[in-house]
Amino acid sequence: MLLSIKDTFEDMSREAAKLIADRIHRKPSLVLGLATGSTPLGLYKELIRMHKEEGLSFAKVTTFNLDEYIGLPRTHPQSYYYFMWENFFKHIDIDRRYIYVPNGMATDIEGHCEWYENEIKRLDGIDVQVLGIGANGHIAFNEPGSSLGSRTRIKTLTEQTVKDNARFFKSTEEVPKTAITMGIGTIMEAKEIILLANSTSKARAIKEAVEGPIMAMVPASIIQMHRKAYVIVDKAAASALTHQFNG
Ligand code: PGA
Repeated sequence: MLLSIKDTFEDMSREAAKLIADRIHRKPSLVLGLATGSTPLGLYKELIRMHKEEGLSFAKVTTFNLDEYIGLPRTHPQSYYYFMWENFFKHIDIDRRYIYVPNGMATDIEGHCEWYENEIKRLDGIDVQVLGIGANGHIAFNEPGSSLGSRTRIKTLTEQTVKDNARFFKSTEEVPKTAITMGIGTIMEAKEIILLANSTSKARAIKEAVEGPIMAMVPASIIQMHRKAYVIVDKAAASALTHQFNG
């Protein structure tokens, strides 16, 4: 695992963007795994800038998003598809046909999850997977206790997650209670992983993920087993680490 501690959120975002741009230059048809949330927003902003100012092209790139709420159409402002479109896809030259986000409106959700896994395989797997981390150590919607070998499937959101997300909806009742998420096993098959975290609210999760025992109660800790994982964090998120190797 390569740990890189940056001064600011912007520095963290730039480092991750540089890594991804490098991989796209080496392989224009890169298969890129993406995440939603506030953490990767700076990364997307920097990739958009690189596209507009430096000619970085996503024309041949395929993307797979980690997760999506069940019951929200793509057009719903809280759907992850909408989030990705607004914050990233509409600003770059990606081909819509190469965008994969789980379909929360699928009639056969289980069949859809299987199809999603098969599409990843058909494209020879994810080259680089971007991850955020929850304050409780979750990755995607794999909450504490999720099987470390899990595949893409339906997960029921924890009460805390539903509460946390209520601020984006008119009422708690409107918050979806289930989601489709890539599994931890799926994520671990990515050839490279970039885990990002910023702010002190993530300091404990980063300490547990990077220095703690590997266990299902801290899903992100599994990346200690990955052969090519980059943990890029700001100083605040690194503040609880015992070993700080500044890269
Ligand atoms: P955040 O969420 O980027 O909005 O902090 C990360 C996560 O919960 O995985």
